[in-house]
Formats: sequence, C-alpha cells, structure tokens
Amino acid sequence: MRLQWVIAVLVLVVPLVTAAAPDEVLETWDPVQNTSEPYWINTAEFAVSSYNKHEKKNLVFESVVKGKTRYEVTGLYIVLVIKVKDGSLPSANYDVGIRDKYAGPADPLHLIYFRKRPLKFYLDNVQ
Ligand SMILES: *[C@@H]1O[C@H](CO)[C@@H](O)[C@H](O)[C@H]1NC(C)=O
Repeated sequence: MRLQWVIAVLVLVVPLVTAAAPDEVLETWDPVQNTSEPYWINTAEFAVSSYNKHEKKNLVFESVVKGKTRYEVTGLYIVLVIKVKDGSLPSANYDVGIRDKYAGPADPLHLIYFRKRPLKFYLDNVQ
C-alpha cells in the first residue's frame, strides 16, 4: 500500500518538474559582447532621451557598462546598465529595460523601465 502511494506521488510530481525545463531555455540571456557597438549606444541614448522627455529631466548618457538580451515573441528584450550624468551630481549607473520590436525604422524601440541602480555593494551579484 505504501509503495503505491510513492508511485502515485512520483507519477504526479515528476512530469511537473520535467515540464518546467523548456521554460528555462526561453529564459536564456545573451551577454552584450561589445558595449561600444553603435546599436547598444543608440539603444541607451534612446532610453535616456525617452526618460528625459517623459520625466522632464536632463540626464546625459555617458556609456554602456554592460548588458544582456533575450529573444521574446514581442521582440528583443534588452537590459542594460548605463552610466548617466545628472547635472552636477557624480555619474551614476542606471538599470534600463528596452524592447526592440523589429518594427523597422519607424518606431522600433520601447522603454520598459529606467531606474537608478542602488549602491553597488548591495548588488554585486545582480546581473
Ligand atoms: C567594439 O566596437 C567598436 C565600435 O564598433 C569597435 O571600434 C571596437 O573595435 C570593438 N571592439 C572589439 C573588441 O571588438
């Protein structure tokens, strides 16, 4: 009787565990290899100007620190850490998320989020 329970649990649980695996494949991120390439610079500049426009700020883009991308049905999801200057404050890193919808030259990029990165020592392990 007890063995039957063990088998029943395995039959129910094992497919759930293995079924989760394909999703992880979709979660794969590709690192940005060369942060100086025009595509990343343009994307970062788009994020800053978009943020400035919506928030009536005057941040100045400085450089792309690092980044990663993921293919999604709706387009390429781009996550960048960028260095930004805010007036006379010291340069600070910002986390930005952008989607490139492959919509052609008309309106391909969409800003998803833009936020100042908390102090580094909290986030050494965060990509
Ligand atoms: C990175 O990209 C820049 C701009 O396209 C280029 O000048 C530079 O040679 C590249 N660096 C590497 C290591 O490929």
